[in-house]
Amino acid sequence: MAEAQAPQRGGYTEEVSAERLAEIGLRFEVDGEIATIALDRPSKRNAQTFATWAALADIGGNLPEQVRIVVVKGEGPSFSAGIDLRMFTPEGVPGQGSFSSAAQLDTTAFEQQIRKAQQGFLWFRRPEIVSIAAVQGHAIGAGFQLALACDLRIVADDVKFCMKEPALGLVPDLTGTKPLVELVGLAKAIDICLTARTIGAEEAMRIGLAERVVAADDLARAVQDKIAELLSTNRDAAAATKRLLQGARARTLEEQSVAEGVEQARRLKALFGGA
Ligand code: ACO
Repeated sequence: MAEAQAPQRGGYTEEVSAERLAEIGLRFEVDGEIATIALDRPSKRNAQTFATWAALADIGGNLPEQVRIVVVKGEGPSFSAGIDLRMFTPEGVPGQGSFSSAAQLDTTAFEQQIRKAQQGFLWFRRPEIVSIAAVQGHAIGAGFQLALACDLRIVADDVKFCMKEPALGLVPDLTGTKPLVELVGLAKAIDICLTARTIGAEEAMRIGLAERVVAADDLARAVQDKIAELLSTNRDAAAATKRLLQGARARTLEEQSVAEGVEQARRLKALFGGA
């Protein structure tokens, strides 16, 4: 399968109204260079549906040009309890079907539906933004994968990450397996996924899942502090550096050195090249 492509700014997606987002259980706010996406269905522990993922893709496709930081947070006690369990029932989620109705699709159509869902997760890696997941309480399945889609995870001391999919007969398919392996290594990723065990704050910090652990009451402040640090660097240099860092693993040292030179030449021309 070809490398997944994230929806681009101003791409093919549609802008979603605040009313529609509220129906889906999302809020989206932009304050200057900072955008905040809130999972806002706390009474259902911010369970996610196909509509959630389509809306996330639309938000990504319409992200205002000035945005440099995207914060993803969850209202209430849990960041997200993962996929809406009604998908496992014959009735499914009203208007969105169920896994048993999706399983009736031919394989190509089914794979396309999954690729569409993944668009909601891919764009958080764009070089021109830094995405931060602010995670408290449970981050299960799709909730864990949403946190993994972000560049950084700042977590509360009550965080509980769990890759529940294999326990339910599924695989993690919302773009979470690659960042998980890259963050914690293959052995630990196998352990985490194939046991579906819960990872608390201390372990999340120790194995590199979390950048920082704070008391639950301090989570918003810790995110604000990180945003201030991130905004203190040059916008274009930050984007170029993220591009370099993202490409580093796939390149040889020689190739990476060349890439550094290409980016630096661009920076120097932009800074000192005059008209
Ligand atoms: N889908 C739909 N509704 C959910 C989900 C979910 N994933 N998780 C919680 N809810 C609902 C509960 O049904 C309950 O609704 P009700 O008040 O109408 O009865 C409400 O949210 C609160 O749930 P509780 O279980 O009472 O909350 P608690 O804080 O005690 O536990 C926890 C939270 C641990 C997250 C628990 O709800 C849970 O285990 N949820 C299911 C997690 C899961 O298996 N997700 C699927 C992962 S796989 C994937 O994402 C692909």
